[in-house]
Amino acid sequence: MDNLFVGTLIESDLTRLIQKLNPNKIAILTDENTYEHCLSLLMNSVAGLESAEILQVEAGESSKDLEIVAHLYGALTEYGFGRYDLLINLGGGVITDLGGFLGSTYKRGIQFINVPTSLLGMVDAAIGGKNGVNLGVYKNQVGTINFPVQTFIDPAFLQTLPETERLSGYAEAIKHGIIHGRSLFEKIIKSDPSQIDATLLEAVCSVKADIVKADTFEKGDRKLLNFGHTFGHALEGVMMEGKGITHGYAIAIGMLVESRISLDRGLLNNEDWELIKQNLIFKYPIPHLSEQEMDRLLDLLQNDKKNHSGTIRTCLIEGIGRCIIDQEVSGEEFRNAFNSITNDL
Ligand SMILES: NC(=O)c1ccc[n+]([C@@H]2O[C@H](COP(=O)([O-])OP(=O)(O)OC[C@H]3O[C@@H](n4cnc5c(N)ncnc54)[C@H](O)[C@@H]3O)[C@@H](O)[C@H]2O)c1
Ligand SMILES: [Zn+2]
Repeated sequence: MDNLFVGTLIESDLTRLIQKLNPNKIAILTDENTYEHCLSLLMNSVAGLESAEILQVEAGESSKDLEIVAHLYGALTEYGFGRYDLLINLGGGVITDLGGFLGSTYKRGIQFINVPTSLLGMVDAAIGGKNGVNLGVYKNQVGTINFPVQTFIDPAFLQTLPETERLSGYAEAIKHGIIHGRSLFEKIIKSDPSQIDATLLEAVCSVKADIVKADTFEKGDRKLLNFGHTFGHALEGVMMEGKGITHGYAIAIGMLVESRISLDRGLLNNEDWELIKQNLIFKYPIPHLSEQEMDRLLDLLQNDKKNHSGTIRTCLIEGIGRCIIDQEVSGEEFRNAFNSITNDL
């Protein structure tokens, strides 16, 4: 289960936790950016890390790769890392996914701690126990569900996060608000993604942590977290073939489209639709898609691995705070919803 601390690292009990775990050796996994921007805050806030081994990978999705994992197994072995030693994952979702997998499989599993440094990592990737790597173009094809000893979330790391990455994480925060309820949603949309405070961050993180606690293995309600992801993943796939799009941006557009289908089906009232639309479109302008790109997107939607027997299943909403899972939607409904949003602009 997730064990979350949200606040300043220096006020956290990470130092005491490390003393309690009492490892002989500690390794800190970073990428080139978190090495540069985040490592000193961690080292200055927590005692006992002076002799830690620093493992560094290249920044970006390409590090979620089995060859990198093999390289890291080798580094830990060379370092004499044992079953009771400690791995700290310091970075965005790439590092917590990669480090979570490394920590879950090296010597059949060692203790690891997550210290997410991107907004997306804080509100999403570092929570929920899912970790893993990609297999070529197949995202998250190999992995485990296994939880860190604890996750420490310090908003101070967000100061150095680039604006596009901040907006990417903010979209997942908005998603948590939409699936949880109006009051949280309104607090999120009124907040500035660069100044998000610990209290709000904790409320946002708890949405995912609570859902995962009730349904860790995604038999039911964990699917609520996929709101915006059916269309969003397909859009990510199409954009990957061109100039690219951050995950959160694609999910923001996915939420718009899935909300519009909800409106068109009479599930969502006009007032909530306008509230969602105004807040999302303002930060995440609708990308232009050619006819060919839209056709390709629909192909990807039909082939989404979450579908059963050729039908597309997605989350829809009956209002803010009322998300429903496993709704069958046709490719044409997705196309029409996207076109309606574009035509209404
Ligand atoms: N396990 C899950 O449940 C889950 C959920 C959502 C996403 N994910 C995964 O998370 C990954 C995306 O996460 P992400 O958006 O955090 O990507 P990321 O880890 O690549 O981080 C984005 C960029 O920001 C940089 N960065 C991170 N923190 C920084 C900081 N404080 N200052 C300056 N730069 C910083 C990184 O080096 C990187 O260049 C994907 O691989 C996705 O599959 C996993
Ligand atoms: Zn997501």
